[in-house]
Amino acid sequence: MVNITEVKGSGRDHRTAAHTHIKGLGLKSDGTAETLGNGFIGQVAAREACGVVVDLIKAKKMSGRAVMLAGGPGTGKTALALAVAQELGTKVPFCPIVASEVFSAEVKKTEALMENFRRAIGLRVRETKEVYEGEVTELIPEEAENPLGGYGRTISHLVITLKSAKGTKKLRLDPSIYEAIQKERVTVGDVIYIEANTGACKRVGRSDAYATEFDLEAEEYVPIPKREVHNKKEVVQDVTLHDLDMANARPQGGQDVMSMMGQLMKPKKTEITDKLRAEINKVVSRYIDQGVAELVPGVLFIDEVHMLDIECFTYLNKALESPISPIVILASNRGNTVIRGTQDITGAHGVPPDLLARLLIVPTHPYNPQEIQQIIRIRSKIEAVAISDAALQKVSEHGAKVSLRYALQLLTPASILAKVNGRQEINPDDVAECEDLFIDARRSAKLFESSAGFVS
Ligand SMILES: Nc1ncnc2c1ncn2[C@@H]1O[C@H](COP(=O)(O)OP(=O)(O)OP(=O)(O)O)[C@@H](O)[C@H]1O
Ligand SMILES: [Mg+2]
Repeated sequence: MVNITEVKGSGRDHRTAAHTHIKGLGLKSDGTAETLGNGFIGQVAAREACGVVVDLIKAKKMSGRAVMLAGGPGTGKTALALAVAQELGTKVPFCPIVASEVFSAEVKKTEALMENFRRAIGLRVRETKEVYEGEVTELIPEEAENPLGGYGRTISHLVITLKSAKGTKKLRLDPSIYEAIQKERVTVGDVIYIEANTGACKRVGRSDAYATEFDLEAEEYVPIPKREVHNKKEVVQDVTLHDLDMANARPQGGQDVMSMMGQLMKPKKTEITDKLRAEINKVVSRYIDQGVAELVPGVLFIDEVHMLDIECFTYLNKALESPISPIVILASNRGNTVIRGTQDITGAHGVPPDLLARLLIVPTHPYNPQEIQQIIRIRSKIEAVAISDAALQKVSEHGAKVSLRYALQLLTPASILAKVNGRQEINPDDVAECEDLFIDARRSAKLFESSAGFVS
């Protein structure tokens, strides 16, 4: 028998990534930004602007529009977009990509873009399902002679009695459901539900009438269902249009959303054609008209948008005008650059003017030395490195002089150097040593210029 125990909190340290400290936009309820909130420091105007965007998305007034976060490197554009995702919660789809992702040898770039558009559009489906629900009071597999002869016997059907607060019902089930019941390890005394049209069986838990019995600690006790055994249950499911595309590219099994979802795990990728998408859109609009489903436009975040080329941009224009479109957030750290795919046409942020005209542009500004110091302090806490005030001062100076990124990069190596030198805490000497070991880009380039042997 396999032993399964619940793990309650592990002692391992959490992994930290570049934006681990960002937990949201840190806005007050009136929409104004706190100087320090949810790990976010400064950049007040941009955070407030993003807060407005979040409100618009939640009010479903933002689909088909696009926002651009524009600012120098390391000014928090990616962090802002991730904070927007956190503010939206898990039910609103958020699909982050980097523009260069769409260039692949196998898939057309517009196809890749379309796929991500559809990942960012959610559909909340309400289904009423006919279910049998109750506590199992009897579970008898009925056997029959094996029809193929021989000595073996097979299960011809299963008799199960379910009890709810309103009564009991005896059901005779198909052997295929018996397998599902065995998989869920259902025994007498469990509360289960069986979906009437698919035969899917789910064990809810152990009936609390048995709560005093000696049992596994991991057992979950649930009350006996209050309604009739045979009843209708409303199930809400969140899927994205892309999930539906994938599921229907290879139809198999039942037609309800759950079995569509089940197919997502299949690794083999089959082609999703425009025709299939059109079909799905039709079904989806019918569901929406009938009130069965509700569209949940999410966010498609395209980082480093200047990497898209002119064809992608015209495609973006078109996609934004479709009736079902997510809100698109773009980010770029370029000023005026040549638009990719053209010879010499330049555009602000590498974006052609017709798309620029559709954008709301949110600028991000460089940080002042105090803000840099605060960001570094937060990061040192998140990365669990102890740092003395003098060393923090020194690292922050690098942040102001070189770049915030460089300063943040120095933290962990400096803490390792401190340990090697037998110190608990980073002090200015460690920072100085680290700075000689890992130089910044400008110094690195200078080195090349000064040494004659290098080709420049
Ligand atoms: N206002 C802020 N408060 C706290 N941390 C921040 C803030 N702004 C940026 N950071 C952190 O600084 C680092 C760099 O920021 P980020 O990656 O968002 O910059 P970016 O604008 O996307 O830069 P690039 O143009 O190079 O992509 C990240 O670790 C980010 O979490
Ligand atoms: Mg970025």
